[in-house]
Amino acid sequence: MFQANLLQDHVVLITGGGSGLGRAMAERFGQLGAKVGVVGRREALLQETVAAIAAAGGTAAWARCDVRDPASVTAAVDAIEAQLGPVTTLINNAAGNFLAATEELSANAFDAVVKIVLNGTFNCTLDLGRRWIERGTAGQVLAIVTTYAWTGSAFVVPSACAKAGVLVLMKSLAVEWATYGIRCNAIAPGPFPTEGAFSRLMPEGMHQEALQQVPLGRFGRPEELANLAAYLCSPMNAWMTGECVTLDGGEVLKAGQEFSRMTDIPRDELKAGLAMMRPTKSAK
Ligand code: COA
Repeated sequence: MFQANLLQDHVVLITGGGSGLGRAMAERFGQLGAKVGVVGRREALLQETVAAIAAAGGTAAWARCDVRDPASVTAAVDAIEAQLGPVTTLINNAAGNFLAATEELSANAFDAVVKIVLNGTFNCTLDLGRRWIERGTAGQVLAIVTTYAWTGSAFVVPSACAKAGVLVLMKSLAVEWATYGIRCNAIAPGPFPTEGAFSRLMPEGMHQEALQQVPLGRFGRPEELANLAAYLCSPMNAWMTGECVTLDGGEVLKAGQEFSRMTDIPRDELKAGLAMMRPTKSAK
């Protein structure tokens, strides 16, 4: 479906590109011809990602970056642009999260997540947005949010607040910066079994229960998210902006539907039960 050179005109910068979904997107964008800059806090992981892209015939570079610090962001973008040329596409993927009862959180704990997710996304988006506006070139931003960005969620309150902010940032700038040819979109992933997310958010014993919540019966595969990101950033999708695409096997819809638990009953058993509830002709 994707031509090998689909993203050949792109220089993509991916925050948190050394691991998990960030790395999956980095590798996929590299396969599709983009030059890929991965930035993050852990140098060894960034180097591994760059080596994997190069081994597959792609072009990539890395730079150390703490997205919470605007000066670190500017230095990292400078370093990537010096190696790969002007960045055309920003993927705000870096995140921080943990499960906790909100009444147990310190102000510092709230900050730790919000500063990575919301301030970090703002810092990166602003830095690149200013460059694109000064240069008079188009650009695009993709943010990885979550399906609880609009409902909120118990036990991940800092993340919920931050991701809601990121979604609103994308929607706001989609309108404000459209005049500069800058598109801003988001993906809301459901459960993807990456080490970073599952070690913090999915206690071992809860996998089966979590799978039960996904109508399509399995967790996401990182390459599926990478393919969606590639499509959203590709020239095939040039008219979409301010949109958030959910990729969760139906999980969020099931959680919100009145009768969705009936899908957990074996279908024959369910149909037999429904038949028994049906009024007989004489009772009508
Ligand atoms: N429950 C409650 N509080 C917690 C916590 C937990 N599980 N983990 C950390 N905190 C608190 C700490 O106690 C500290 O607060 P305090 O100073 O009042 O004691 C505060 O959060 C900051 O913790 P620290 O470890 O110093 O923060 P950090 O900036 O080094 O790390 C995190 C930020 C906590 C988000 C860390 O998990 C991280 O770096 N994550 C990045 C990767 C990630 O989360 N990936 C998954 C994305 S889905």
